Amino acid sequence: MARRAVGIRRFIARISGSRSRVATTLPAAALTLAITLFIALSAGEPLNAQGGYSYTGVASCAGSTCHGRSEGNGAIVRQDEIATWQSPSAVSGAHSRAYAVLGGRRGQQIAASLGLGDAREAPACLGCHATYAPGPERGPRFRLDDGVGCESCHGAAIGWLSSHYEVRGTHPANVRNGLTPLEDPQARARVCLDCHYGSTDRGQFVTHSMMAAGHPRITFELDLFSSFQQHHDVDSDYVQRKGRPDSVQLWAVGQAEAVARATDLFARPEYGQEGVFPQLYFYDCHSCHRPITDGEERRLTFETNPGRPITFGQPPFNDENIIMLSTVADVLAPGRADAFRSASRNFHDAMDNGRADAQRAAIALRSEAQALSSALSGRNFGSNDAFTIVARIGSDATSPRFTDYTGSVQAVMAIDTLLNALVTDGRVTTGAAAGIRANLNRAYVAVRSPNGYRPAQFREALGDAVSAIGRLR
Ligand code: HEC
Ligand code: HEC
Ligand code: HEC
Ligand code: HEC
Repeated sequence: MARRAVGIRRFIARISGSRSRVATTLPAAALTLAITLFIALSAGEPLNAQGGYSYTGVASCAGSTCHGRSEGNGAIVRQDEIATWQSPSAVSGAHSRAYAVLGGRRGQQIAASLGLGDAREAPACLGCHATYAPGPERGPRFRLDDGVGCESCHGAAIGWLSSHYEVRGTHPANVRNGLTPLEDPQARARVCLDCHYGSTDRGQFVTHSMMAAGHPRITFELDLFSSFQQHHDVDSDYVQRKGRPDSVQLWAVGQAEAVARATDLFARPEYGQEGVFPQLYFYDCHSCHRPITDGEERRLTFETNPGRPITFGQPPFNDENIIMLSTVADVLAPGRADAFRSASRNFHDAMDNGRADAQRAAIALRSEAQALSSALSGRNFGSNDAFTIVARIGSDATSPRFTDYTGSVQAVMAIDTLLNALVTDGRVTTGAAAGIRANLNRAYVAVRSPNGYRPAQFREALGDAVSAIGRLR
């Protein structure tokens, strides 16, 4: 599988400081585009609320007095959001490149292998690689080739565009008019997961066939990915309007929503199955895709996993978020932990019994995940919680469950996010965190390549990072 080493790339991005703040220098190309967009705005047709459309397009956000500034020095919001969103090389610009990658070599290859024609016109791809509004909902300045535009996340703008910058405008009023409340962890998780996991909406599901045709695998963690595309400052007026973001909560709710989404899709016949097989997208890829040796020395690559009561050799459902959410529940919602754990065991167990049982168990697990998501959304978390979760991830209760690549990647991202939360909280100094980076780096190296992944080595590296953080408590 041609897949970039996501973990290490993120690690590099992190140590080079991109998490803390977006680039402040504006690349020339971005400036040119901002100017073009501004011209488009001044010369464009007037906004027409009667036109029947709801998506106004990125150009309608681009005025130099709006979000198209070259410097992030706006009084309330930065106003250089477009420059960050379309940064040509940084991770923060990925969404503006999402349409263009469909036209690249890999994008064209995938679509050709599947007989989809040009990927840039294939609904199966556009659902996630663009703001894929239905034709009649596209305003005069809407452009599909803007990729994943502002309205993919913030919501169709026609209802709130002209009022959201009014002096008397308030956030609740904007939300009533259709703005998505992205400061709310559940709302944000659901928006991101539509594309960073899958949804029932048009063109928002990556099948195993697409992956077989060359689509990269999809990794996601809400807090970490939010910080990589961040284009706003959490300053005092932000906190006043929207509250202080809580990284631990974003991470935890992100895990709960991911489990709810996976089980929801899996339980639906039209997503859970491809041909006579279950939809393999949901399973651990490397339970099937690993080298098989048949020599004197059998190298055992299938490890029994204490969280999964399945027949030896059966492909396991990809439980990366289930493992994390179990850990979250143990620490942050202990009253619900047992119910979640038994629902997740029943779900794995039901895989041995056939489709109907697995669907029922998926629905039961989804309810537990949803209940946890709501419980976690309702409270704030402190740095003691972060320390306790880190310890729990490295503990004997959790660590033996890291037998697969994806679960392990998820664990490293969790440790990274929680360490970052401790720094933000002032519980760990930047210097001390930097000292631990070497340990965390070793854990990232252990998940650099799915093909080279060795569970025992990974668990050792993770254990070192967890102990190092524990010593700072
Ligand atoms: C469910 C949403 C979804 C669908 C449907 C989807 N993609 Fe993607 N695609 C993504 C995400 C998310 C990524 C980024 C993965 C990552 O880096 O974590 C991506 C990455 C890619 C990349 C790699 C881009 C790069 O920067 O290297 C290509 C190429 C691609 N997709 C093409 C396609 C094609 C062609 C189709 C249709 C057959 C398609 N995608 C359908 C969500 C989707
Ligand atoms: C991938 C999803 C995504 C895309 C695309 C996106 N945003 Fe955001 N944006 C967010 C999130 C998440 C936040 C932080 C939560 C919040 O305050 O709404 C945010 C925050 C903001 C803020 C700060 C809000 C405040 O109250 O201080 C502005 C302004 C903004 N975005 C404008 C834009 C513009 C303009 C575009 C298009 C160029 C855009 N965003 C594209 C997700 C996105
Ligand atoms: C409409 C679909 C869509 C939505 C909604 C969306 N994304 Fe994405 N995102 C993508 C696609 C497609 C890519 C890959 C684009 C590429 O490779 O150029 C991507 C890439 C990214 C990347 C870069 C990943 C990498 O490996 O380079 C980050 C970070 C990211 N998204 C964060 C988020 C967050 C956080 C949210 C929710 C606030 C979100 N996205 C919502 C489609 C979406
Ligand atoms: C239950 C077993 C199973 C699981 C789980 C599975 N696959 Fe596959 N995969 C197959 C089979 C069978 C084929 C097609 C037959 C072949 O390899 O010739 C295939 C083909 C592929 C190919 C093309 C291989 C080639 O040689 O061209 C890729 C890439 C791929 N899968 C990726 C994935 C990813 C990514 C995942 C996890 C999201 C995954 N697979 C999960 C069984 C599986």
